Amino acid sequence: MNLFNLRDFQDVALEKLDPVYYDYFAGGAQDEVTVQANEAAFRRLSLVPRVLRGAGRPELGGALLGQATSMPVLLAPTAFHRLAHPAGEVETARAAAEAGVIMMAAMLSTVAVEEVAATGATLWFQLYLQPDLGFTESLVRRAEEAGCKALVVTVDSPALGRNERGDRNDFHDLPAGMSCPNLRGDGDVGQVVLSPEFSWRHVDWLRGITSLPIVLKGILHPADAALAVEHGAAAVIVSNHGGRQLDTMPPTIDRLPLIADAVRGQVPLLLDGGVRRGTDVIKALALGAQAVAIGRPVMWGLSVAGAAGVAKVLSLLRAELVNALTICGVAAPGEVPRDLVVP
Ligand code: FNR
Repeated sequence: MNLFNLRDFQDVALEKLDPVYYDYFAGGAQDEVTVQANEAAFRRLSLVPRVLRGAGRPELGGALLGQATSMPVLLAPTAFHRLAHPAGEVETARAAAEAGVIMMAAMLSTVAVEEVAATGATLWFQLYLQPDLGFTESLVRRAEEAGCKALVVTVDSPALGRNERGDRNDFHDLPAGMSCPNLRGDGDVGQVVLSPEFSWRHVDWLRGITSLPIVLKGILHPADAALAVEHGAAAVIVSNHGGRQLDTMPPTIDRLPLIADAVRGQVPLLLDGGVRRGTDVIKALALGAQAVAIGRPVMWGLSVAGAAGVAKVLSLLRAELVNALTICGVAAPGEVPRDLVVP
């Protein structure tokens, strides 16, 4: 198979997957302007390497919120991995464990968080706050007991975005035999509630019931990033949900500098949306991120070859990142200078 980069995996996944599931993974809100803009924005930025830096071969390893990571790339939380592979999130987590990267395990996982954790992968648990705070708390306890090292609260979803591919395909429920065991009862997806009632008060509430670090995912406005820090967030993820929520949200990489200015290094910043190349990772690092996350490429890897496919996606990205850092004369992800990137 011709799998030389992350986009190649998408092409092969398109051939392999049920078209309805392919559309679910690939698609976004309405006209998918934001889906395309995320990748296009990286292409518009250029890199200006310095020469003769004597930097040697770059070392990619580091830590995030106290957890070791072999490179500044995480797996973004994505729902329903069993649509891509029969063993679902277990395969994804095996690849994350093998690669030594952090996996953000989705609340809407098709495998229970305890089983995903049993792979030995370092997990952060992604949560949609539920109006039934008692249930939300019970889920937090499950994540804690399973050994998850942080809670990632997705704050960009007071309602579900309008995905017309899903409407046209009439894809609204998981196939028979598949459920979301992190939800209650029979794990029917219909039980998850996205609510517009949540506010900063609920972030304070969550901080009061857990000692896990709280990461807020889905911030695009610098004022919200500042509020996140004020309300005790341990990290912020600059994200437009991969263009799946509100179409015509700006590309994340374009928002990053503003948000980095607002956060002023008080907490780590992460970014996701359209990261497909080692050079994209470097651009995010230069503009103020400590790490990036990838969503769809993981689903393509999983669809193509399960854990081995996800591992290959991660190793390709790692090799690209090493190559690009070397050519830029940078010794480590934390040392990427701001002036490496020009418009
Ligand atoms: C997502 N994303 C997501 N985010 C989240 O917080 N909870 C979730 O359950 C999901 N589910 C989900 C499913 C699928 C199929 C995709 C593609 C994405 C968003 C995800 O975490 C991330 O923000 C984007 O995927 C990043 O963009 P790229 O890398 O896919 O371009």
